[in-house]
Amino acid sequence: MSTAGAPGKVILFGEHFVVHGGPAILAAIDRRASATARTTPVRDVIRIESDIGVSAKYFPAGMSPVKGGRKKVAAILDPIAAAVRSAGPPLDESGLRIKIESDIPYGVGLGSSAASCLVAVAAVDSLYGRHDRQWVCDRAVESERMIHKNSSGADCYVSTYGGIIRYGRKEGYSVLHAKKALNLLVCSTGIRHSTGDQVEKVRMFKASNEERFHGLALRAAEICNSAHSSIESGDYARIGTLMTENQKLLREIGVSHRKAERIIGEYVKAGALGAKITGAGGGGAVIAIASTPKGARDIAAQLKKKGYDCTQVQVDQEGLTTRQLTRS
Ligand code: PMV
Repeated sequence: MSTAGAPGKVILFGEHFVVHGGPAILAAIDRRASATARTTPVRDVIRIESDIGVSAKYFPAGMSPVKGGRKKVAAILDPIAAAVRSAGPPLDESGLRIKIESDIPYGVGLGSSAASCLVAVAAVDSLYGRHDRQWVCDRAVESERMIHKNSSGADCYVSTYGGIIRYGRKEGYSVLHAKKALNLLVCSTGIRHSTGDQVEKVRMFKASNEERFHGLALRAAEICNSAHSSIESGDYARIGTLMTENQKLLREIGVSHRKAERIIGEYVKAGALGAKITGAGGGGAVIAIASTPKGARDIAAQLKKKGYDCTQVQVDQEGLTTRQLTRS
């Protein structure tokens, strides 16, 4: 039996524009998914269960849901099953059982699908092949492309390597060294989004507003570059201002949401230095930065008092971890 763990994430800057070749800055957060994998005597069957209420058996010729409706099971587990199959364990003699648990809220842009896929592949791989983290990451990126075919792969990178990274389709990833810990907050709108739908919406916006999109993408890249140096110099106030600037661009391309805007207003009233949606938008989660840890605590308390699901998060430095417990 083996286990693997990986963090969720927030996108600090550059979501959506990263799909179209721009840079993004992401941080792994201290909410993690884990998987255990073991071999079973049932030849060529992969059984996957997740604590978000879905479970299924995958045969070479198809899937049979065990828990949850077929559509929901397929949306959540098919990419994981495909990634596990592409990890290539020889299943001619045995089968696999994979159990996934996660404290990353599902479907609100905090990286739960990427982390779940990574841990499933990593746990299985450590039973068989023992490839490096980048190999596991590549399998997860491929499977994210089953969810939406233009996935930038950014989620998988930050969940694999942890910390704060800068990522671009052409430039690849690089590690950022924050001068001081970021006082980050996350608030869920409670509205689940489809990343694929939001990405498609932006593609359509771009198709009918080529020049305008080009201008916005240039500005998004400038914001990322300034944010990069502000994170490395520990300039919280500037990071906050840049988050708010980034949010204006997201609003323009149509991926914000009324409830997200309300939360941003509450963050600012409570003293946040800046706030924006994180991830695909259209609901999802909203992040903010505070000037001190105490400030972040106070902001979270104020939002909670008003009924919002708001918490502080720390940056996870560990990334993907695996451990083999026994040989089967
Ligand atoms: O799935 P989410 O909500 O974390 O959003 C992914 C970020 C996008 O930039 C919108 C898409 C991508 O592939 O990078």
